[in-house]
Amino acid sequence: MQPQSAAVADYLDHLAAAGFQGSPRYLGRDGAGRDVLTYLDGDVAADPPEPWVTDKGLLISVAELLRELHEASAGYAAARGFQAPQGSAWMQWPLPTDVDISLVPEPPAPELISHNDITPQNVVVRDGRAVALVDFDLAGPTSRLLEVWVTAKYWVPLRDPRDVWPTWGEVDQASRLRVFVDAYGLSTSERETLVEVGAEEAVRAWWRMRGAAEHLGGGWARMWSAGSGEAITRRRAWIERHADDLTRAMQSRPVKWCKSRSRSR
Ligand SMILES: Nc1ncnc2c1ncn2[C@@H]1O[C@H](COP(=O)(O)OP(=O)(O)O)[C@@H](O)[C@H]1O
Ligand SMILES: [Mg+2]
Repeated sequence: MQPQSAAVADYLDHLAAAGFQGSPRYLGRDGAGRDVLTYLDGDVAADPPEPWVTDKGLLISVAELLRELHEASAGYAAARGFQAPQGSAWMQWPLPTDVDISLVPEPPAPELISHNDITPQNVVVRDGRAVALVDFDLAGPTSRLLEVWVTAKYWVPLRDPRDVWPTWGEVDQASRLRVFVDAYGLSTSERETLVEVGAEEAVRAWWRMRGAAEHLGGGWARMWSAGSGEAITRRRAWIERHADDLTRAMQSRPVKWCKSRSRSR
């Protein structure tokens, strides 16, 4: 049980009622005070993720599952707003004590409550397709665009190539991002602002990870000592260097093919 348990349970109940098949059901609390959830059968990636996680069909299915999640989630905030139910709170990111708040960009205006942590280790895969999500601990307010970026950040992945897992070999990050946003169904105007959302996310992530290491310790502190902050700094520089390439990759249309096809009709 965690401070956010009751809020997460309420959100999981909503997803179940909305007919979303891709999340565990909340079954209540056991005698030892632990949250109990239904078991979802399938495969989950290890950390670092194995080469099978790079499969293009899997990438597409993650984007489609995210779209379904967003459609199922929209009604939750519409009915209840963005405040967690009484006595509970969504995961809060404590900032470091020495933070200069003017350097931390505000997150985009919240549009919905969603998962917020769709890493390869939190996606259940069956027959090569993403079928469900686990680990709703970080659920809370976000925007669709921000979660598209954050999910693609793990699955494309959107990071400095030096930080891509060696077992993944060469990955064409721009074309995988294109595949991902096509499968999600991102609009033309959303494609224009996605990279900017991602650049700001990197700045925010650096402060949040540092704050979590300082105030929450445990795994957060271990990740920070292992260099998560430096990797975020490299990611931010990589995004800035490739912002135009990434945006162009999402916008280019196979124009010639379309024209010759329409002429032959
Ligand atoms: N409802 C579930 N059904 C099946 N396996 C699960 C479920 N929840 C978690 N797991 C498994 O346990 C692992 C760790 O759980 P998770 O909730 O992701 O915790 P952590 O905070 O450690 O990432 C997951 O990667 C997955 O393999
Ligand atoms: Mg997890």
